[in-house]
Amino acid sequence: MAASDDLFDPRSAEFIADPYPTYRRLRAQDGPHWFEPLDSWLVSTYADCQAVLRDTAAFRSPPNLTGIQALDPPQSLPYRSLIRSGLRAAQSPEFEADLVRAGAQLLRAARAGGPFDLVRDFVTPFCLAAVSRLVAVPVPDGGVFEEYTTAHQRAMDSQVVDPAEREAVAARAARSRARIAELIDRWSAGGAPGILTHLQQGGGALGITAKAERATVYFVVFSTYGTGTAALGNGLAALLRRPGGLKELRALGPAGWDRATDELLRYDPPVQVLARTCTADTELGGRTIRQGQGVLALAGSANHDPEQFADPEEVVLTREHNPHFGLGWGAHVCLGAPLTQLMFRAAFRALLDEAPGLALVGEPVRRPISTSRAFEAIPVDC
Ligand code: HEM
Repeated sequence: MAASDDLFDPRSAEFIADPYPTYRRLRAQDGPHWFEPLDSWLVSTYADCQAVLRDTAAFRSPPNLTGIQALDPPQSLPYRSLIRSGLRAAQSPEFEADLVRAGAQLLRAARAGGPFDLVRDFVTPFCLAAVSRLVAVPVPDGGVFEEYTTAHQRAMDSQVVDPAEREAVAARAARSRARIAELIDRWSAGGAPGILTHLQQGGGALGITAKAERATVYFVVFSTYGTGTAALGNGLAALLRRPGGLKELRALGPAGWDRATDELLRYDPPVQVLARTCTADTELGGRTIRQGQGVLALAGSANHDPEQFADPEEVVLTREHNPHFGLGWGAHVCLGAPLTQLMFRAAFRALLDEAPGLALVGEPVRRPISTSRAFEAIPVDC
């Protein structure tokens, strides 16, 4: 049996298609909702999610994580600095121009064949090109990445799948992790002047173990490819569903694109759940969270809380004050935020230059996953 109760059925087709009505019902409850099947609290309002993300003493990273995700302040601070400086060094106007070129090339090839799938033919290989640039190696075989992403997303979902499936899911994830590890280790051994060498050299000096350093590297690579693909797919589908969405983007001009990216990440964030473990009995939203209990801060729900955002169900590309949780918040806030913005800017530029008439020609298809949100396919034509 999949984990569910009367209010929350994350494996249902309805939830996967559109979780926001469920979140509305959860926010209407009197405080956090105890979700027995996972021994965890579901935290759904903006204020309560923020309280969880702010209090790293009471709500720490869950024990199953490794690498940077497992570290809390103050231990995490020098390592976060190292990752931030590595990412900053990797990003440059040339990086962005390279990505625009890669995106334009992909779109020219895709549109030449008539209607195409925006995820398969543009978003996915575009994010692979970003990985390649980030780690300074030639564009790798996308198949290995795709397999890893799918297995990883299923593993993250494994708390809410049928327990009978759990072992098979974990075994598949381990196999695909081993394949991607082999690839990344080969890149690292090559000493390419990208983020890998930066993390390897700097991590040792900070006393980061080799195991934690590798976990961080996998996470950075996975975020750029897997989370990047999900974020761009969700964002572009939201834009295309909006009458005149691409025209509006063009009218905003590049100066408005980072703000537009933030709004798309607020509206339909790929990372829906920020998991924490409670370290000491703590009051939250009128409930007592007990030491050892799980806490799932529902980022997608907080991002649609009308107490925080005016017209939360609307995409407002010019939204001014937008402190969304699409990139996390607080001590673990995403270190890849500037890279994410760069990737969106490059994708917008390539789309507006090469496919200004892009339009949906069918209903986009969701991946059958619950803790992340991503599209399997987005049928389009120019
Ligand atoms: C493309 C869209 C992306 C989205 C939507 C996203 C989202 C997030 C979220 C929600 C968190 C917080 C997790 C938590 O609090 O439990 C996070 C953390 C993180 N992200 Fe991203 N991310 C993206 C891209 C990237 C990229 C491109 C990189 C690096 C190249 C990256 C690196 C990281 C790292 C290292 C952390 C962990 C920070 C820590 O635990 O201290 N992310 N991201």
